[in-house]
Amino acid sequence: MINNTPQPVNAYLAGVNLNDPNFDYYMSELANLTEADNMEVVGQSQQNAQQVVSSTYLGLGKINEIKNLAHGLKAKVLILNDELSPVQIRNLENLTKLRVIDRTELILEIFASRARSKQAKLQVQLAQLQYELPRLHPSENQLDQQRGGGFANRGAGESKLELNRRTIGKQIAAIKKELKAINGQEAIKAKRRNQKQIPKVALVGYTNAGKSTTMNGLLTEFAEDSRDKQVFVKNMLFATLDTSVRRIDLAHNFSFILSDTVGFISKLPHNLVESFKATLQEAKDADLLINVVDASDPNMMQMIRTTQSVLTEIGIKDIPMITAYNKADLAKRNYPQIEGNDILYSATDQASIKSLANLITNRIFANNKKLELCLPLSAGKVLARLHEEAQVLDEDFQADGVHVQAYLSPKNQQKFHQYII
Ligand code: GTP
Repeated sequence: MINNTPQPVNAYLAGVNLNDPNFDYYMSELANLTEADNMEVVGQSQQNAQQVVSSTYLGLGKINEIKNLAHGLKAKVLILNDELSPVQIRNLENLTKLRVIDRTELILEIFASRARSKQAKLQVQLAQLQYELPRLHPSENQLDQQRGGGFANRGAGESKLELNRRTIGKQIAAIKKELKAINGQEAIKAKRRNQKQIPKVALVGYTNAGKSTTMNGLLTEFAEDSRDKQVFVKNMLFATLDTSVRRIDLAHNFSFILSDTVGFISKLPHNLVESFKATLQEAKDADLLINVVDASDPNMMQMIRTTQSVLTEIGIKDIPMITAYNKADLAKRNYPQIEGNDILYSATDQASIKSLANLITNRIFANNKKLELCLPLSAGKVLARLHEEAQVLDEDFQADGVHVQAYLSPKNQQKFHQYII
């Protein structure tokens, strides 16, 4: 049988270490990203320096060393750990005779291959074009044309350059317009959800930590027709680029809206974060964040810091948070365990999902008080509203009226105060 699977391209990785204690972690992320982009890492080099070389990123001696090693290992691509300037990329390509990809382009390529929805595709395209625009150059040589994977139509000569710039400028404007329309529709849907006054909980965290699996676990346990509502789960970086929003109904009308969104990684390209702002809006509007962490990963602490810094970059602060240490089964720890605002659990375990739901409920309904009310028998409409807006535990029709035991939010305590006994 003929095997049609394309052979992965060999890639060589390199980075400049500016005395950064997280350097090794960034390089291991770069290796994961490279594999996520269907390339095979055949070797890597690092240069310890006080600063990067402005024209070539790496020093000339290091570049020569890398060139020899990489060609010896049949690498076709050199991947750098930082975002490089257009000049640095061009010079490195000329000196190494390899295709040079920086960290930003690599992440953009992965996002482009994962985007499914129209919104995600446009968001990635926008970020790619914004990355490409300053990188157009009049003297495109053969190597540039070989790169193939470029997003813009590379041509030679000044006029061609101008034409390309204008074309990209127009494409950017057209995409922004289309995105504005889509984002507007999404905002209307979000507004409708907000009007219902159901608390909103958002799953956030490092890519592949298990956010979608957690959402599916909660849906299976607490949503009707949960099979139709399941979200996409896969063991790969950035499996989810869209935001999924679902309603979770726990017992006694304790309901919340749960959203699952794009995963994070270190040094997420700024353009990408900018263009994904609409997708991340659901997390910004949340009453509670669940930061899902892969507890089995040795780099867990850095991943937590990464999530924190991406949250800050998208302007999320002061939203209460539960840290949910997932994959306890792989970490070989006892689970589920709750400690304060944290939970150690496994998203594939039913008891864990129930504990997580309890923790969420305790947090979002922390200010709800269990109270007894007495409603006149004629106040059928008030009773119906109580059932809709509060968490009714028990009701008892007696001679003096309907006695109701319910959890009331501070707002509802005011609204129904005349009936509270
Ligand atoms: P992105 O979409 O990349 O942001 O990923 P995500 O955080 O949504 O992760 P996802 O739920 O897609 O899970 C990633 C991988 O981890 C999948 O292969 C899951 O089956 C696996 N996984 C998730 N939770 C657990 C767990 O508790 N235990 C084990 N063993 N595997 C898990």
